[in-house]
Amino acid sequence: MRRTPLVAGLAAVGLVIAACAGDASTSSPAPPPSGASTSTVSEATSSVAVSRSDTADSESTLSTDTDLSASTTGSPSETAATTSSPAVPGGAGGKVGVYTWWAAGLEKDGLDALLALFRAEYPNDRFVSLAVNGGDTQPQLEIDLKHDNPPDSFQWHAGAELSDYIKNGQIQPVDDVIAELGGSAVFPQGLLDRLTVDGHIYSVPANIHRVNMVWANPKVITSAGLDPAVIPGDMEAWIADLAKIKASGVDTPLTVGGTWTQVQLLENVLLADLGADKYTGLFDGSTDWAGTDVTAAVADFATLLTFTDTDAADGDDWPASIDAVADGTAAYNVMGDWAVAEFNSKKKVDGTDYTYFPTPGTDGVFDFLADSFTLPVRAKNQAGAKDWLTLIGSAEGQKAFNLAKGSIPARSDTAASDYPAYQQTAIASWQNDVIVPSIAHGSAVNLAWGSDIGAAVSEFHASGDATALQSELAAAAKKNAD
Ligand code: GAL
Repeated sequence: MRRTPLVAGLAAVGLVIAACAGDASTSSPAPPPSGASTSTVSEATSSVAVSRSDTADSESTLSTDTDLSASTTGSPSETAATTSSPAVPGGAGGKVGVYTWWAAGLEKDGLDALLALFRAEYPNDRFVSLAVNGGDTQPQLEIDLKHDNPPDSFQWHAGAELSDYIKNGQIQPVDDVIAELGGSAVFPQGLLDRLTVDGHIYSVPANIHRVNMVWANPKVITSAGLDPAVIPGDMEAWIADLAKIKASGVDTPLTVGGTWTQVQLLENVLLADLGADKYTGLFDGSTDWAGTDVTAAVADFATLLTFTDTDAADGDDWPASIDAVADGTAAYNVMGDWAVAEFNSKKKVDGTDYTYFPTPGTDGVFDFLADSFTLPVRAKNQAGAKDWLTLIGSAEGQKAFNLAKGSIPARSDTAASDYPAYQQTAIASWQNDVIVPSIAHGSAVNLAWGSDIGAAVSEFHASGDATALQSELAAAAKKNAD
C-alpha cells in the first residue's frame, strides 16, 4: 500500500503553516479536528512489542496515544536542546513517532525488519508507528502538519516530491546525520547530488527501487506460442506480443491497478518512447509535453490499456496486479521492484514461475525512486528521530530492510552477493545504467504536479480521450514546473 498521490491544496496548507510559524513556537498547537484522526498506532520497545498497526478498528489518535501534541515549544534548536541525554547508552530515550505507509503485508515485513534492529540498538527509545489503516498516511500527515503537530519523522519519496515540505519550512536538513553515516564514502555522490536542495540534504534514503520493470509469467507467454526468453525490444514489439497473447485466449494479457499504477505505466511508456534524455527533459522544460513524440507515447499508453482489465482497475492497489501474473491469469505487469517480494511470498521461483525485464525500450536505463525518512521542524523528539534516521542509513539497517522489501541499499558499500538474484541485477543496473527519476513515485515532480498528472490519468481512464490527456499533461507541466 502506498500513500494517496493526489494532494491538491498542500501548498495552501504550507502557506498557512509558514504564516503561523512565529506564533506556533509560543503556543500549543490546535488539536486535530475531533474524529479526524484515524491513525493506528503501534509501539515497540526493547522489552515490549505492542503491535496494533493492523488493527482495523483502532480509534487511537496520534495526539492522544503518543502525546505528540502536548509539548510543542520553542524553535527547532530550542526543542532539540531540551531533549535530555539518557543516563545509559542506547539512544536518546522517549517515544519516536514515525509516519510510514508500510502498514501491511510485505511492506510491513520490511519495516518490521528495521524495528527489530532499532529495538536492539536503541533500547532507550520507543518506536511509535503512525502507520494509518490501509497505509494511506497522507491525509493524517497533512492534518498533523497543518496543526503544527509534526511526527518525529515521516516516510516520503526523496527528490522533487519533498520540495514542497522544504519550501514550506516543514522539514529540516539532515546533513549531520548523512555526514556521521559517512557521507559520500558510503552513499553514491550522484545520489547525494540528487537529494541536495540549496546545499542541504533533507531526508535519509532507506533504499532504491527500480520502477521500469515488467514482471512476466513465462508459462502464459509460452502457451501463446511465444518464446519468453525473447524480450521485446520496444513498445511496438511488445504491443505485437500482447496482441498475440490476447488472441491465444488470455483476456487480460497486461494488468494495471489504481491511478498511481496507471501513472507508473504511463511514465514507463514515456521513457521507452522518448529515451532517457528526452524523458528527463520533460521535467526541466527542454522536452515539450505537447510535442509529437509525447503524442505517440500517449497513443501507446492508450493501446496498452486496451490489454488490461480497465473496468476493475481504478480502485486497486498493486498486489492484485502482480498476483494475476503469479497465478497465470495475466502475462505481464509493469511494477516497481517491490513486486519481487510478492512473488517470493507466494513461493514462486525466479526464472521458472516468473521472469522480469526492463520495460521494452528502456534497457540500460534505471527509473529510480528512493524511500526516505525526514526530520520535521519542531519534531518533539529530535534526538530520538536522529537515532531512527541513523538506523535507516546504516549498513545493517539497509541490509535488513532491503532483503525483505525487494529494493537495494542506497549505500554503495553493499555486497551484491548478500542479495538474491533479482536484487543482484538491480545493483548492477544502478551502478551502470543511466539514472532517471520516477514520476509516480515522487523523484521527478513536486506534489502539485504529481497530483495534476494523477488527475489527468484518472480522467483518461474514464474518458479514453487521448488528446485531452496530452493537453492536460502539457497544462500540468506549464502550471507546476519550477
Ligand atoms: C512506492 C514506495 C515503495 C512501495 C510502493 C508500493 O511509492 O516507494 O516502497 O511502498 O510504493 O506501495
